[in-house]
Amino acid sequence: MTNVLSPSNSGRLGFLKSQQDVWLTRGGIVVLILGSFMFFKFLIDSQPSPIPAEFTIGRLSPQASADCQNCTHPRVVSTDPTSRLPESTFPNSYLPCKDYVKPGSSTHDLDVDKYFKVSVEDSELLHAAQDAATNPLPDGKPKIAFLFILRKEIPLEPLWERFFAGADNDSYSIYTHASWWVNQFPNSSVFHNRSISTKEVKRFDITLVDVVRRLLAFALLDTGRANMWFMLVSEACMPVRSFPYVYDYFMNSTTSFVESYSPLKRFKRWHTEPLFKLEQLHKGELWVSMHRRHAGMVVGDVTFYRKFKADCRDDCVLDEEYVQTLLHILDPKGIANRSVTYADWSNPKHGDSPLKHNVSHINLELFRKIQNRTENRDGQYMDSSDDLNHTMQTCIYNGRPSSPCFLFARKFSGEPADVEALVKLPKSILGY
Ligand SMILES: *[C@@H]1O[C@H](CO)[C@@H](O)[C@H](O)[C@H]1NC(C)=O
Ligand SMILES: *[C@@H]1O[C@H](CO)[C@@H](O)[C@H](O)[C@H]1NC(C)=O
Ligand SMILES: *[C@@H]1O[C@H](CO)[C@@H](O)[C@H](O)[C@H]1NC(C)=O
Ligand SMILES: *[C@@H]1O[C@H](CO)[C@@H](O)[C@H](O)[C@H]1NC(C)=O
Ligand SMILES: *[C@@H]1O[C@H](CO)[C@@H](O)[C@H](O)[C@H]1NC(C)=O
Ligand SMILES: *[C@@H]1O[C@H](CO)[C@@H](O)[C@H](O)[C@H]1NC(C)=O
Ligand SMILES: *[C@@H]1O[C@H](CO)[C@@H](O)[C@H](O)[C@H]1NC(C)=O
Ligand SMILES: *[C@@H]1O[C@H](CO)[C@@H](O)[C@H](O)[C@H]1NC(C)=O
Ligand SMILES: *[C@@H]1O[C@H](CO)[C@@H](O)[C@H](O)[C@H]1NC(C)=O
Repeated sequence: MTNVLSPSNSGRLGFLKSQQDVWLTRGGIVVLILGSFMFFKFLIDSQPSPIPAEFTIGRLSPQASADCQNCTHPRVVSTDPTSRLPESTFPNSYLPCKDYVKPGSSTHDLDVDKYFKVSVEDSELLHAAQDAATNPLPDGKPKIAFLFILRKEIPLEPLWERFFAGADNDSYSIYTHASWWVNQFPNSSVFHNRSISTKEVKRFDITLVDVVRRLLAFALLDTGRANMWFMLVSEACMPVRSFPYVYDYFMNSTTSFVESYSPLKRFKRWHTEPLFKLEQLHKGELWVSMHRRHAGMVVGDVTFYRKFKADCRDDCVLDEEYVQTLLHILDPKGIANRSVTYADWSNPKHGDSPLKHNVSHINLELFRKIQNRTENRDGQYMDSSDDLNHTMQTCIYNGRPSSPCFLFARKFSGEPADVEALVKLPKSILGY
């Protein structure tokens, strides 16, 4: 028996020994790889700004590009006197030089009809829109572009019609994106023929980010219209101020209104480096209002978009973190870190959704309360109801604290009884 077993035993032992060597060698390689990985990770982590050089975004004017050759933080404000871009707004804003694409040839057909009619590839659309954002503002009165992201019809349409009736024709634009229904309004409606080509949209998904970028892109490409500000609204949203009030509030503002705060620790487990540090991950409501310059940044970004699309999962909320993180990193001083759209998050029982106002909530007091707010006292979107304290912030407008916070409010259910109650509200309350 031993005879039979010996050779095979020794063979087996020999096999084991050589295998041990292999494992030892493999172990050495693994340690080596890990070691160099840690070393390079240390090198990368010790870099002050992890934004990669390939990062692409809007262009500088020729003068500003020249300035950019030496500087680390050039002013974004255009010094080209013929340019009607950002001008005196955003005096505190800056971007690192490398965030600009080198000026190149722009052979894009900016005929917006092409984009309205044809479902073009988003990359082409966004590229053209980025160009448009860096061109001088088209002639005409600067406009607020209202970008409606709709799931269904616009039940509050009568209110919006009233709101826009108080506006000069040439001071606003409307663009709608509806995924679930055919958007057909009579030709007397302000919403008539304002729908952009649509794509299916899912909440918490990259498709919602895509829709935001598509709406911004269409509005930027509408080169016949001097769209200067971009306001995202939903079908559950309504204005709580008159149009002229809203117009002045936006047009005179030195910051965009993007709610942006650092989410609670337990929601920050995403591997974001080396593109950006986890502390820079910011969150806020989707319903933002931004200056043309920021709109250009959002449509022009490639790098952050790819990162978010590739692996923002689970603890990461794409539609509430992409724009917020991007602008927090690129232009922290250019955003107010707060929203102009009221939402009632004060009751933790509502879970992951703010109070949906219905006929029982709709009265004069509600609107007086919303209009008089100079602090975020009804909560902002939070990852958890156990941190209400950080929401008691005073609303700062152009450096002035205790300014009116809200121009719009949500959520309002579209039930006929609710709409009826809203329509009955007097002009003396809503301002329109
Ligand atoms: C860039 O720096 C060089 C040397 O420091 C200087 O001569 C040149 O004028 C600077 N250019 C600009 C546009 O500031
Ligand atoms: C807006 O323009 C239309 C025609 O395009 C005109 O009928 C209407 O009177 C204008 N309204 C205002 C407020 O200028
Ligand atoms: C608006 O629609 C009505 C019928 O729905 C039509 O008679 C009218 O010509 C249209 N007006 C315009 C300007 O298209
Ligand atoms: C929208 O308006 C354009 C002209 O401004 C017209 O050519 C087009 O047919 C309209 N589309 C619809 C769906 O009404
Ligand atoms: C905004 O600017 C306009 C002039 O462009 C001015 O008439 C208006 O009073 C300003 N509004 C505010 C709130 O500062
Ligand atoms: C918004 O927050 C950033 C820090 O994240 C800060 O630098 C900036 O000043 C804030 N914006 C305003 C208008 O206070
Ligand atoms: C209105 O909403 C509240 C919850 O906030 C609910 O209790 C109440 O039944 C609703 N009323 C109507 C008429 O739907
Ligand atoms: C809101 O402010 C106005 C004037 O500033 C005041 O008349 C009104 O009483 C206030 N309403 C509430 C509910 O505080
Ligand atoms: C919130 O503020 C109150 C009073 O200022 C304090 O008692 C409480 O501990 C704070 N809560 C948190 C979570 O910081």
